[in-house]
Amino acid sequence: MKYSISLRVVHWVMAALIFGLLVVGFYMSNIEADAPDKYELYPIHKSLGFIVLMLFFIRVVTRLRSHIPVPPEGLQSWEVRLSHAVHGLLYISMFSMALSGFMMNSTYAYVEGLDMFGLFTVPDITAKSEYWNSIFHTVHETAAYILVGSLVLHLAGVVKHRFMDASENDVLARMV
Ligand code: HEM
Ligand code: HEM
Repeated sequence: MKYSISLRVVHWVMAALIFGLLVVGFYMSNIEADAPDKYELYPIHKSLGFIVLMLFFIRVVTRLRSHIPVPPEGLQSWEVRLSHAVHGLLYISMFSMALSGFMMNSTYAYVEGLDMFGLFTVPDITAKSEYWNSIFHTVHETAAYILVGSLVLHLAGVVKHRFMDASENDVLARMV
């Protein structure tokens, strides 16, 4: 049995956005301050990151309302527990990333609101504060490493069950 179509769609849309955001995020924050593309990438990163934040809420509601397939019977109980723990870490880290990014922008003194591709502006939800800005910055950086670590485990699990296990343990088939 597969995950519901709505959960599969939101999983893959978010997976693509999150991969893109990780690559762009590490790239843009590590290049020289005067690199020509640096400040073109920031607004794109922020707008896509805000879309991830909105999709996160849609995903939680979708997950609560849809039927989640039980793990394949051939999995060891430690594998089931580990996969649930990794899914939990992925939820926590993707939410922390998107929220801390938004809060970093909201507390940043040199911008008013979050410009969404020049189409409209999402208002700030906090006062401007250098202190809180640096806290959210640290959360954003730290959560990035937790997200990358849990993604490595997630992908290792998918590959293991697809290529090193019996075919009835292939969890990828449930998500495509
Ligand atoms: C799930 C969503 C997001 C992911 C995966 C993500 C990922 C990243 C990564 C990997 C970095 C580099 C961290 C480092 O300095 O080592 C970064 C930096 C940054 N992100 Fe995000 N981000 C997300 C959402 C957001 C949002 C919603 C905003 C703002 C509205 C945002 C604003 C920023 C800013 C301003 C930086 C640069 C910080 C600096 O200059 O050091 N991000 N992001
Ligand atoms: C190429 C990248 C990816 C592949 C191949 C992949 C594959 C899968 C598969 C096969 C499942 C089903 C596991 C099962 O049946 O137990 C799954 C579930 C899940 N994946 Fe991914 N995934 C990818 C990227 C991501 C990313 C970037 C995230 C979030 C940061 C993510 C978060 C989750 C979560 C939380 C679940 C549990 C089901 C749910 O609540 O949506 N995945 N993934």
